Amino acid sequence: MLSYRHSFHAGNHADVLKHIVQALIIDSLKGKEKPFLYLDTHAGAGRYRLGNEHAERTGEYLSGVVQIWQRRDLPVDLAPYMNAVRAFNQGDTLRYYPGSPLIARYLLREHDKIQLTELHPRDYLLLSREFSKDSRARVQRADGYQQIKSQLPPLLRRGFIFIDPPYEIKTDYQRVVEAISEGHKRFATGTYALWYPVVLRQKIKRMLKELEATTIRNILQLELALRPDSDRSGMTASGMIVVNPPWKLEQQMNHLLPWLHKVLAPSGNGHTLVKWLVPE
Ligand SMILES: C[S@@+](CC[C@H](N)C(=O)[O-])C[C@H]1O[C@@H](n2cnc3c(N)ncnc32)[C@H](O)[C@@H]1O
Repeated sequence: MLSYRHSFHAGNHADVLKHIVQALIIDSLKGKEKPFLYLDTHAGAGRYRLGNEHAERTGEYLSGVVQIWQRRDLPVDLAPYMNAVRAFNQGDTLRYYPGSPLIARYLLREHDKIQLTELHPRDYLLLSREFSKDSRARVQRADGYQQIKSQLPPLLRRGFIFIDPPYEIKTDYQRVVEAISEGHKRFATGTYALWYPVVLRQKIKRMLKELEATTIRNILQLELALRPDSDRSGMTASGMIVVNPPWKLEQQMNHLLPWLHKVLAPSGNGHTLVKWLVPE
């Protein structure tokens, strides 16, 4: 079953959170000259046109990236993310939203490597066209979870693994924990970032318990909720789990999340969270 298309959701509040975290992690990893592998297990189509039928049908980007795009008082730590978004748009008009692979393409250096997997046939095609001339990148139509087994540890010995499934299949909640656990066994020093939606809080609690029950340490949890938890009103919040985060990330997100919450939830509903799920 592959009914999920990210084009309906590109640029929504969840994308804003996940891509800010993605951009900050890449920016920190670039602090060392040594190259690294960027592995995106659920890559999507890459580029999204915001005025198109899919985006307009949900209008989710209007309460997400558009709110940030209009601001002039951007915190300095938003720069890696906003520079990437600006690079795909001309002037003041926001027409395109870059997905995680294009944010990585913009931020990574000549000597870094990019490994992308996407299962949906149409999105895979769009993605492979985007990267056809990028010699750093390899795009595959393959199961992203399998990549964790086949690509880790990376030859470069440094890596950032970005895991962003659609959670349209219930087993995704367990598979992500197995994937991180498997990845960590093969490559304990890598940085892993997992996105999660809060639709039913109970599912996230279970997923986090399973993660805590592994032997993995140094796990940071970040969350942005725009509404209180509810089992009736769709996605109320989303979060990121980061294993081996760059040392600055906790402080950066402590500063950024309250600002984001003010901008994206002006009514004050919801909450923000920066918490060590498992300390070092
Ligand atoms: C949330 S979207 C990804 C968005 C993208 N990471 C971004 O930030 O721009 C999830 C994607 O995973 C794809 N997908 C679903 N199951 C997959 C699997 N097992 N392996 C690889 N891709 C998968 C879907 O087709 C969808 O495009």
